[in-house]
Amino acid sequence: MSKKLFIETLGCQMNVRDSEHMIAELNAKEPYEITTNSEEADLIIIHTCAVRERPVHKLFSELGAFNKKKKAGAKIGVAGCTASHLGKDIIKRAPYVNFVLGARNVSKIAEVVDRDKAVEIDIDYDESDFAFKDFRSSSFKAFINISIGCDKSCTFCIVPKTRGDEISIPADLIVNEAKKAVAAGAKEIFLLGQNVNNYGRRFSGEHSKVNFTELLRQISKVAGVERIRFTSPHPLHMDDEFIEEFANNPKICKSMHVPLQSGSTDILKAMKRGYSQEWFLNRIEKLRAMAPGVSISTDIIVGFPGESDADFDETMKVAKEVQFEQMFSFKYSPRPLTEAAEFDNAIDGEIASERLHRLQEYQDSVVDNVMQGQVGKVFDVYFEELRADGHVSGRSSNNFLVKVKGSEELLGRIFNVKITDSARMSLTGEILA
Ligand code: SAH
Ligand code: F3S
Repeated sequence: MSKKLFIETLGCQMNVRDSEHMIAELNAKEPYEITTNSEEADLIIIHTCAVRERPVHKLFSELGAFNKKKKAGAKIGVAGCTASHLGKDIIKRAPYVNFVLGARNVSKIAEVVDRDKAVEIDIDYDESDFAFKDFRSSSFKAFINISIGCDKSCTFCIVPKTRGDEISIPADLIVNEAKKAVAAGAKEIFLLGQNVNNYGRRFSGEHSKVNFTELLRQISKVAGVERIRFTSPHPLHMDDEFIEEFANNPKICKSMHVPLQSGSTDILKAMKRGYSQEWFLNRIEKLRAMAPGVSISTDIIVGFPGESDADFDETMKVAKEVQFEQMFSFKYSPRPLTEAAEFDNAIDGEIASERLHRLQEYQDSVVDNVMQGQVGKVFDVYFEELRADGHVSGRSSNNFLVKVKGSEELLGRIFNVKITDSARMSLTGEILA
């Protein structure tokens, strides 16, 4: 009987792909069956996120709970950004943890799993051309990492300290991954990196300098790739060439995540984001003009140190002007190892909560408007998921979640769908013959 693996993946989509890599490497050593019940698992892995403080607090209570209920002899490992950040302190606080594996050391999983109290968290470790074994949780959509680490130093962000400097994965490896994914049935390729449009700045060995736009062209030429998505681009690196390729390449899905963080140019400066409100709005304007129907999503932080009422008003102004189709908004959370953690102009927590509430309330009204505005339109929907109530769901090119009545035979196929109804999170429609 094969061993059972329980793996909980928190945080970003890069973690989702890194979890798949861990599963693949473990499976190559000995077969594991994945379980969603930690109590029957032989190996429990918590794949952590360190971007905000709350999930880090949760880690230790969760570890305690897993340890209490685990099967006799089961091992517990902590992976990801909090593993990189806290390292051996995790074992100090939770001595029953068997190993700690950093976000940049994923390829070592098969080795650390059998080395009790192993701590592998080197952020200079280079696994950019490591040939991971194959495992994908979806056969329809393939996540592919295109870079590791991040070269920026946004003053609020811990990621460069947990994932290290940015190294691009060689383009031929990425193209090869895309070919394998297509052969396994995927029509959609989802490229991942902390800063995808900075791709190609640094490779670890001798590799031809391919930039992100060129990489997109290469992937779109792979036979069988019908859709390409990516996340996240950085607003600073959104040059005209990139926006033109995005708009004109029919294989690139027309949805883009453009993380704003703040609408105030002063706060953007304090965050070291490298762009102004004007630049951001100019890029969005170009994007909407060149790619009509594009959906734009963003990330916003409110209550960054020094954020005045006037600064927050600038964020509201940008939200009103852009009408983001989707927004992820967070209250600023001071993180160790970051510059902003040393700033002495913190914002009162209640003021930050009130601002966040105001922003979210406004954004909800935008989303309601956007969703209602889709009724009557026709979208090409790639069906990926079976729903409980006789429905199947998928995504339009511009990333709306669309449900239709139907069964398995729709999965993995793209159909034109006429939208008949809307809700805040999803659209309902009928397939056109
Ligand atoms: N480069 C990545 C960013 C990873 S962090 C990307 O572009 O997606 C994901 C998001 O978490 C950031 O965009 C930011 O909005 C939020 N975030 C990061 N650090 C934060 C902090 N200290 N407090 C609150 N939110 C934060
Ligand atoms: Fe973080 Fe800024 Fe990089 S948000 S991941 S340091 S682009």
